[in-house]
Amino acid sequence: MKILFVCLGNICRSPSAEGVFRDKLAQHGLAGQVEVDSAGTHAYHVGSSPDARAQAAALRRGIDLSGLRGRQVSQGDFEYYDYILAMDRDNLANLEAMCPPEHLHKIHLFLKYAGGVGASEVPDPYYGGGDGFERVLDMLDDASEGLLRVLKERLAA
Ligand code: 4NP
Repeated sequence: MKILFVCLGNICRSPSAEGVFRDKLAQHGLAGQVEVDSAGTHAYHVGSSPDARAQAAALRRGIDLSGLRGRQVSQGDFEYYDYILAMDRDNLANLEAMCPPEHLHKIHLFLKYAGGVGASEVPDPYYGGGDGFERVLDMLDDASEGLLRVLKERLAA
């Protein structure tokens, strides 16, 4: 099973989602069964480390994002990944515009898997204050729990 998390720049939300979800997989002994990556719809930050604020917030939860590097979504991603999970509706629309029709069913808003966050999009924390990154991590944690439940069912089936 292969999962790709997608945001705009691939330096705040989607690398955070990658780190949070990898951490969940490791906790549940599933790291070897699910492949995870993240990418941006835009190329502004290709090759960059995650934003320092995102790294600091994740590290406070024991999640190290320092090894990740920004990359842009490529056409091959639509074929390769099983789930392509967008952080917001702009990302979703950009992905849908790029995606071959036969793979459109793989693209979803990540927060569709969240239970109790009361939002359908992960807000972009890039231009906001530091607590935006905490809120993003809370949302990503909730959605990761939901996604993990779905994947466990699929892996068991
Ligand atoms: P991300 O946040 O999409 O969560 O990685 C952003 C990063 C960079 C920019 C915007 C959002 N930017 O405009 O450079």
